[in-house]
Amino acid sequence: MARKPIIAGNWKMHKFQAESVELVNALMAELKPIEKTELPEVVVAPVFTSLHVVRKAMDDCGCGKVKLAAQNCYYEAQGAYTGEVSTEMVKDAGVDYVIIGHSERRQYFGETDEMINKKAKAILANDLLPIICCGETLEQREAGVTDSHIESQIRAALDGISADDVAKSVIAYEPIWAIGTGKTCDSDEANRVIAMIRNVVKSVAGEAAADAIRILYGGSVKPETIEEQMAKSDIDGALVGGASLKADSFAKIVRGAM
Ligand code: 13P
Repeated sequence: MARKPIIAGNWKMHKFQAESVELVNALMAELKPIEKTELPEVVVAPVFTSLHVVRKAMDDCGCGKVKLAAQNCYYEAQGAYTGEVSTEMVKDAGVDYVIIGHSERRQYFGETDEMINKKAKAILANDLLPIICCGETLEQREAGVTDSHIESQIRAALDGISADDVAKSVIAYEPIWAIGTGKTCDSDEANRVIAMIRNVVKSVAGEAAADAIRILYGGSVKPETIEEQMAKSDIDGALVGGASLKADSFAKIVRGAM
């Protein structure tokens, strides 16, 4: 079964509201000449405070070529959780996807596998789709524990989720040493790890879910790297950081995935 590729831009903690609107409008202008059916799924993930205005800009454009993601959410619906934003609330702001378990959230904000699993369940229960991130540190890679580490992250994230929901979900393999460093993971190696992840999904949720789930690569993706990455058997797209902050470079990556 052919999997529809996804090119997602994680804007991280960048862009004020006006800048976010400017960027998404510039991106939609870049994509204007391309037929929607030819495009991969294109997703952007602004900061929480920009979600609503970016949604409005997308709706005003009416082209339907870009989807919206939040970079995080909390798994409780509401309550005394100062500083958190629930899945229901990001849904209310108009998102389609929620990124969870990014290595920066795990590293700086103490996000655990258990929290990521609860978030994935809350996201799916609200008819949104999770983009579940995983990846190893340089130390883990050098110690030869990349595969076992990622397998345990994926098993924990997907624990107790139905095969149908797993099939709809998205995973992003982001080796931490490749994030923001300019050191892209070799595309054969990225494909090997992603195929390994697909095998883990198969053992957790069965073959149909493993065939359907989209697994992205992230870590210093650039316009120059995307075509080679997309030519690999198991890489279904990219989660892009730095290169998603400019409409022209992100649009080049989108075109490279067509
Ligand atoms: P860079 O593309 O800047 O390396 O960031 C990758 C990433 O962390 C996307 O989530």
